[in-house]
Amino acid sequence: MEFDTLRLTQDGPIAHLQIHRPDKLNALNRTVRRELMEAVDHLAEDESVRVAILSGAGPKAFVAGADVQEFADRSPGEQREVYDRRRVYDALAQFPKPLIGAVHGYCLGGGSELALACDLRVADRTARFGQAEIRLGLIPGAGGTQRLARLVGPGQAMRIALTGDMIDAEEAYRIGLVEILVEEGKHVEKATELAQRMARWSPVALRLAKRAIRATQEMPLSAGLELEKELFLAAFGSEDGQEGVQAFVEKRDPEFRGR
Ligand code: COA
Repeated sequence: MEFDTLRLTQDGPIAHLQIHRPDKLNALNRTVRRELMEAVDHLAEDESVRVAILSGAGPKAFVAGADVQEFADRSPGEQREVYDRRRVYDALAQFPKPLIGAVHGYCLGGGSELALACDLRVADRTARFGQAEIRLGLIPGAGGTQRLARLVGPGQAMRIALTGDMIDAEEAYRIGLVEILVEEGKHVEKATELAQRMARWSPVALRLAKRAIRATQEMPLSAGLELEKELFLAAFGSEDGQEGVQAFVEKRDPEFRGR
């Protein structure tokens, strides 16, 4: 697929999605958001893709936020119309395959919210996270109060969203905003290594495991355990589930087909 603000490449079962607007620090304008949604919809359907990685182009940023110029050009009514349409953050969160955010440099505002919508985050030591909206007289509007508080707890989310201060990669790692911290420039390599380790397994099991863990954001424990049971049974009844168990018993490598 051809895009203006994205680079989409594939390496075996792994898709690399790179936001490519480096002269504007990959700020999320309408085109980036639309193209990202088109890309994830395409990757969701493409059976040859098992895991995806999202990163930002250029030396300085993953994504330095929503495009502030677009905010400046919109009325409150127009902003509501934008918010009422399908949103890129939800498209990423609902993507049915594992999605790893590979973060370096500035990861601010909508950029941080994009990283929060990924399943996990690998950052290099240059990463700087922040919800800078408060500096503009605004608040985070795409998960930077909700997904952030669920990930790092309400106290840390308060600190980040109410000060607008940036936190460095080390601190982001310490509070759980980043799951894996690596040396400068190694974030995509590390994310790829992780993706390869996931891509070995049944696409059905990957999808069901992701769905079950995502449900913890929405459900009380008893309902979550009930859902987990049903999803386990779905995995158990899948061809891949049968194949995995049979291969173990027969002491051979399984061949997962995604069914
Ligand atoms: N929206 C639109 N344009 C942005 C942007 C954003 N969120 N972030 C950076 N840019 C643009 C700059 O306007 C500049 O464009 P120009 O060269 O045409 O003037 C270009 O990207 C480079 O940014 P610059 O500010 O020159 O880089 P810097 O290294 O001096 O500063 C930041 C980096 C991230 C501190 C600074 O760009 C910034 O504060 N950006 C806004 C962050 C923000 O508030 N994000 C949350 C929005 S809700």
